Amino acid sequence: MTDTITIRAPDDWHVHLRDGAMLNAVLPFTARRFARAIVMPNLVPPVATTADADAYRARILAALPEDADFTPLMTAYLRDDTDADDIANGFRDGVLTAVKLYPAHATTNAAAGVTDIARVRPVLARMETIGMPLLIHGEDAGPEVDIFEREQVFVERRLAPLLHDFPGLKVVLEHLSTAIAVDFVRAHAPQLAGTITPHHLVETRNSMLGHGLRPHLYCMPVVKRESDRVALVAAATSGEACFFLGTDTAPHALGRKLAPVCAAGVFNAPVAIETYAEVFDKAGRLDRLEAFASLNGPRHYGLPVNERTITLVRAGWTAPREATVEGPEGRVAAYRGGETIAWQVSGAA
Ligand code: NCD
Ligand code: ZN
Repeated sequence: MTDTITIRAPDDWHVHLRDGAMLNAVLPFTARRFARAIVMPNLVPPVATTADADAYRARILAALPEDADFTPLMTAYLRDDTDADDIANGFRDGVLTAVKLYPAHATTNAAAGVTDIARVRPVLARMETIGMPLLIHGEDAGPEVDIFEREQVFVERRLAPLLHDFPGLKVVLEHLSTAIAVDFVRAHAPQLAGTITPHHLVETRNSMLGHGLRPHLYCMPVVKRESDRVALVAAATSGEACFFLGTDTAPHALGRKLAPVCAAGVFNAPVAIETYAEVFDKAGRLDRLEAFASLNGPRHYGLPVNERTITLVRAGWTAPREATVEGPEGRVAAYRGGETIAWQVSGAA
């Protein structure tokens, strides 16, 4: 049995670091485990321009623990009125790494999202020309669309035409949640890649709803059937270049998670790489963890892989129940809090 595995340092290609006191509370969990992370722009108001991203990056760097070796990669929130020149300049100057498309109202803080993809065609055409990746929250949140079919409907109605119309545009379909999306990514690689979260590899709608309603497992896209989970595990552990790590760690204050209208998002940063290691171990595929966590992402983004390494060891530890936020927001409950986790990162706090 393998008890130790050393891999190139992983990157997290989808993370919500928030801002202010919440940023201070959650950033260390990501920065101690990952070398780089794609930082989501869905603050209120959104990180929409190069100037916004530059300022947000400075706040993240200022909040980093002193011993962290971590680089935030910034994204801009695509809106109907996004200026193609501003985005292209931000990419050229190394401020922006990618652009994020949220269909309007599809998820937390997506009210300012794109109302109609036709409106952002000039920006997409420019990104295609300069080789700038488009990251997509792939759900159609129209009132007639069933919550469990939002991803499938988006993929069929919106993503397929978009890939066809912009064949040179590099795209990431984020937080895959269905077998249909897995197959779609495979069929459209290498133009398209998909990220997979730890919770979509472990949870199903049964674990979220079947034995009492568990608000801490509620996220967008919602976790699906067991057959979807199995397809996601097969994809992640396949070694195929089109699947890579994106935790979608999305902290919300406890009060917002326990409110009558529960905020969507799972705060998994304290146990993310460890949970992936468990999943790969269970699948007998620890040998493919490095491809998923550290190689496939940089290849899709056209970035170098990390030179430093991390070591994961099989040694049980108890996951923290929560992170403490200094200020009125209080506490954030952590995914798998209090559970015994079979793997740990050697040296991570
Ligand atoms: C995210 C958040 O809270 O910002 N929530 C979530 O359920 N995943 C937004 C997102 O990525 O959809
Ligand atoms: Zn997200």
